[in-house]
Amino acid sequence: MSKLALTYDDIQLVPAYSNISSRKNIDLTTQVTKNYGLRVPLVASCMDTVCESEMAITIAELGGVGCIHRFMTIEQEANEIATVVAAIQQQNIEDVWNLNDTNWKFKKAIPVMAATGANGDFKERAVALVNAGANIILIDVAHGHHENVKQAIATLKNILPSHVDIIAGNIASAQAAKDLEAWQADGLRVGVGGGSLCTTRLKTGFGVPNVSCLQEIIAVTNLPVMADGGIRTSGDIAKALALGSSCVMLGSLIAGTKEAPGKIIEKATGLFKRYRGAASLETKMTHNQEQKNVEGESTVIPFKGGAKFVIEGLLDGVRSAFSYGGANNINEFKPEYVQVTNAGQTEAKPHLL
Ligand code: XMP
Repeated sequence: MSKLALTYDDIQLVPAYSNISSRKNIDLTTQVTKNYGLRVPLVASCMDTVCESEMAITIAELGGVGCIHRFMTIEQEANEIATVVAAIQQQNIEDVWNLNDTNWKFKKAIPVMAATGANGDFKERAVALVNAGANIILIDVAHGHHENVKQAIATLKNILPSHVDIIAGNIASAQAAKDLEAWQADGLRVGVGGGSLCTTRLKTGFGVPNVSCLQEIIAVTNLPVMADGGIRTSGDIAKALALGSSCVMLGSLIAGTKEAPGKIIEKATGLFKRYRGAASLETKMTHNQEQKNVEGESTVIPFKGGAKFVIEGLLDGVRSAFSYGGANNINEFKPEYVQVTNAGQTEAKPHLL
């Protein structure tokens, strides 16, 4: 029988009693895998127009993590990781992370994350990335509930040192979450077909709207859940966290910034940068991949300036959300929510103009 499935616009969080006196004191510390923590619940997506070393360093400076994409040679990706590792030993980053804080419950290491696939050169790639200093490997597969992912996790668990955690995905069902947990994943990347440039749902009919997808999975797993795809505002981040996600993965929100890979494009109408789906024709052509299984679009988006300003704006919104929810930290952020009608969605946006 069919079930109704909701996404971010279908719900609103209900304000709760709050005694938060200053948003500055709100602690956004969270988990990204079984063993690794974050100071803020943000992960830069492993897309070739979102995250290489420059973005990863900038987001680490603010307490989040960037996942270096895999659409380059093993040597290039390992070099990107080496660049990130060199930068995160700087005092300003150590200060933000404050790993000697007695409340820090995770490994005393700043997470360094990079993507591999689940076949081809993934073993050699993962080994090179870990040798360069990565401590989290993300198996970047569109359909993560797959035998290839089971085998890839088993292989990597066997060959990589025990301090390395593995994030697997993407998934969109409770059974997938149970299976990935049984296959020894240390974190889940959740969301199928909801990304801003995804055509998976149109092309295949598969995918589950994000709110219901997260609810189904969070109800059955003990692993940290990273909500991925379709996050357009800090309000969406707050909704994902309210549902019990540990963190969110961002694509479009931080694409188009100075630190996102790619040149600034000058047009008569202003400055732009490219943003493209990992499975778009443009990405496949750029990286000499076979031009099949296209499931993404590509576009130009307005240049946004520095990523730090953009990310700080998002964090500002998330801290405000915690204040409305009466929460000092992520564990306390469990507001109720209501389902809204079309009229409620209209009311939720500026509607005078
Ligand atoms: P946002 O909405 O943040 O989404 O821009 C980023 C996420 O979208 C996914 N992604 C894709 N999904 N085809 C897809 O179906 C693609 O070509 C594609 N590229 C990225 C991915 O999960 C990313 O983090």
